[in-house]
Amino acid sequence: MTETAAPPRRPIRELPDELVSQIAAGEVVERPASVVRELVDNALDAGATQVTVRLVAGGIRAIVVEDDGCGIPPEELPLALRRHATSKIRTLEELEGVSTMGFRGEALAAIASVSETAIVSRPADAAHAQRLDARSGELAPAARAQGTSIEVRELFFSTPARRKFLKSEATELAHAVEAVRRHALARPDVGFAVWHEGKLVEQWKRGSHEQRFADILGEDFLAQSRALDVQAGPMRLIGRVGLPEAARARADQQFCYVNGRFVRDKLVQHALRSAYEDVLHGQRQPVYVLFIDIDPTRVDVNVHPTKIEVRFRDSGEVYAAVRRAVTQALAAPGGAAPIVAAPAPITLPETPVAGSGFRFAGLPPTAHQSRLSLADLGALYAPEPRAPLPVETGATRLLAAEPSASVPAPTPEHDWPLGRALGQLAGVYILAENAQGLVVVDMHAAHERIVYERLKAAADQAALAAQPLLIPATFAATPTEVATAEARADELQALGLDLSALGPGRLAVRSRPAALPDADPVELARSVLRELTELAEADAGHLLTRARDELLATMACHGAVRANRRLTLEEMNALLRQMEATERADQCNHGRPTWRQVSMKELDALFLRGR
Ligand SMILES: Nc1ncnc2c1ncn2[C@@H]1O[C@H](COP(=O)(O)OP(=O)(O)OP(=O)(O)O)[C@@H](O)[C@H]1O
Ligand SMILES: [Mg+2]
Repeated sequence: MTETAAPPRRPIRELPDELVSQIAAGEVVERPASVVRELVDNALDAGATQVTVRLVAGGIRAIVVEDDGCGIPPEELPLALRRHATSKIRTLEELEGVSTMGFRGEALAAIASVSETAIVSRPADAAHAQRLDARSGELAPAARAQGTSIEVRELFFSTPARRKFLKSEATELAHAVEAVRRHALARPDVGFAVWHEGKLVEQWKRGSHEQRFADILGEDFLAQSRALDVQAGPMRLIGRVGLPEAARARADQQFCYVNGRFVRDKLVQHALRSAYEDVLHGQRQPVYVLFIDIDPTRVDVNVHPTKIEVRFRDSGEVYAAVRRAVTQALAAPGGAAPIVAAPAPITLPETPVAGSGFRFAGLPPTAHQSRLSLADLGALYAPEPRAPLPVETGATRLLAAEPSASVPAPTPEHDWPLGRALGQLAGVYILAENAQGLVVVDMHAAHERIVYERLKAAADQAALAAQPLLIPATFAATPTEVATAEARADELQALGLDLSALGPGRLAVRSRPAALPDADPVELARSVLRELTELAEADAGHLLTRARDELLATMACHGAVRANRRLTLEEMNALLRQMEATERADQCNHGRPTWRQVSMKELDALFLRGR
């Protein structure tokens, strides 16, 4: 999301030796896609507004990247090809605060050493372009508009061993296109086109972020994701996170950028994973595009030769911010499971319903996309601020509910987002009527979520009760486990786990959570310790919450109303109201939807009415 105008161009200079020695060295060019990535990086650094990539044989025979950026003055062309010569940084200080994609002065030199490379460039004030052939060093006038074209032919022509490592042309092409996609997602202000052997394979026109997301990730992505824009201390997090229903079998639609640079970062991946934990279970992979814009001095981009990894100065801070922002985006406003709703616009009351306690809050951003979440519906009838929910535990108490305390004052039934209960179907579903038509609720799934969220709230208020073990369970522990148990004793206590060291290599479990009487104390202790140790760096506080939440989720499943339990209309209505007041109520703890809307339009269509 870094769309800052390129800084005024500075001449290319050789980096001082002591700075050269600071720069992460290693293989820059592995395959055509790495060339494409480096050349597009350069075009963007040059302030291009249009970047065109032309490939032959998947990029193995030829890669040409053309831009309309600032160009390179003819006298500097040879320098552009020299190792450790760059226009982008001069000093260590500038390296530490670098905001351009490039800084090593390495890419063109590395590319030219394994291919036949030429640069054609024309700066704004030049009468014509100049072409420099890297191999012969020959400089000759050439024709082109302002900007630069870099031509790279016969990659690895002189190193057949490396050429052999390349995959099929189709595979190399796919990687090269993916490299452009990554840039394009982050830079909707720049137009991109990819040609392969004279055919246009991809084209992304300049436009808004939303448009670019839709162009690259598909129209559905907008409807199936939540926007996020959060300032968290020294960083701003922007992007879109896919709803659980949009999750995929493979992690191939996960885009994370730090200061505009595509990175693969374990810490951020963990933070995202953990934010999804509540709504996405199993092996499903969420779809997301996340831009982390952070003060450049708080992140080191000079840790990996291809810049695919970064190191944050305060990783805990980033972990916590990402986790919180994504959790919030997934929870409210705009919970999770998309609901199949009317393809036509939904008719809504235009004025507040007198005395209802609700005011009409306008269409949510996704309403026109014919998918709604509970929170969207809720937003249509945004309630006045409510009193905090009382914490309850058992299913009986939840259902025997007095709707009064936990939900707003009496309201005309049609005002409830989830409507008025009509009855129960097959002991599994609650049927209700709302302004849009029919609502179908999976009562166990919905209740499970309610109980779970309440347990979490309860545990946030106080420690979970511990059940002392008559005979402490002991086990052989690694030095790390012992150290973690001692360092984190307080937090473990709060989970109901009392661990103490019996010696250098042995731990004793003296209590477990009372709510988990059947849990194997040793296994429980070990897994909690493992989670704690694994990510001790990455905000341990949240991991404890996560481990705790897993326990709570298990408990919730046992606490939730079972199928085939007959409910009275009052109980059903109470459940619907609880859902409306519960975060993430669109999904059960296993990521399945808890309710669906069947619109009047759809019902009419079923009965061919109005045709
Ligand atoms: N498309 C371009 N438009 C304008 N100048 C360019 C372009 N490509 C390269 N240059 C100039 O050539 C120099 C060398 O490019 P090169 O990619 O080798 O190094 P870099 O971008 O400075 O650092 P890095 O190795 O990290 O990419 C750049 O610093 C820049 O001044
Ligand atoms: Mg570069």
